[in-house]
Amino acid sequence: MTKVLVIVGTTRTGRSGRKVADWYLAEAQKSNKDVEFELLDVADEKLELFNEPMSPMMRQYSPRQEELAKKVGSADAFVFVTGEYNHSLPASLKNFIDYLNAEWHYKAAAYVGYGATGAIRSIEHLIQIMTELKVTSVATGGTNIGINAIWEALDENGIPKPGYAHGDISAQVAELVKVAEALKTLR
Ligand SMILES: Cc1cc2nc3c(=O)[nH]c(=O)nc-3n(C[C@H](O)[C@H](O)[C@H](O)COP(=O)(O)O)c2cc1C
Repeated sequence: MTKVLVIVGTTRTGRSGRKVADWYLAEAQKSNKDVEFELLDVADEKLELFNEPMSPMMRQYSPRQEELAKKVGSADAFVFVTGEYNHSLPASLKNFIDYLNAEWHYKAAAYVGYGATGAIRSIEHLIQIMTELKVTSVATGGTNIGINAIWEALDENGIPKPGYAHGDISAQVAELVKVAEALKTLR
């Protein structure tokens, strides 16, 4: 079974990120019952600003890095649920990504963006970062999920109101799983 880690990248009080991730996870599970999903909320990790003495590339991890390595290392694929801060990804998400190295390698990633216009610039930056970490992104051909005007998009249950969300979650997960399974041969 393919294991997909859904990563929520923002951490601020009152954020929309967790609501978007909970909605996405429920929808993804409904349409892909043979996939194992797990949520990783960066806010719950309460990470310091990265201050490890060794580069993660050296794989001489601190106990805190080992804890994160277990979670990221157990996944075959990632879905990044990301907002957009000043036309890029939130610093909290970049900080989390930087803690590890090899645990990202030869896995697949898909993207769920929310903001004024579906966090498209944030996703583009994430794709560049993931490429450096040998992650294959499945973000082309309309397979990103986006929510526009996030400040008014969600109803009282955290579900996007009609007209605000775009993208096919089931198709995105199917593509993610296909690529993730192929990449297993490289690990
Ligand atoms: C520091 C900051 C910068 C922002 N910059 C952008 C931006 O560049 N593009 C955009 O679409 N929205 C931007 N916004 C609005 C966010 O899309 C919106 O606040 C969203 O809810 C942020 O995600 P969060 O609630 O999970 O933190 C910004 C918000 C913050 C707090």
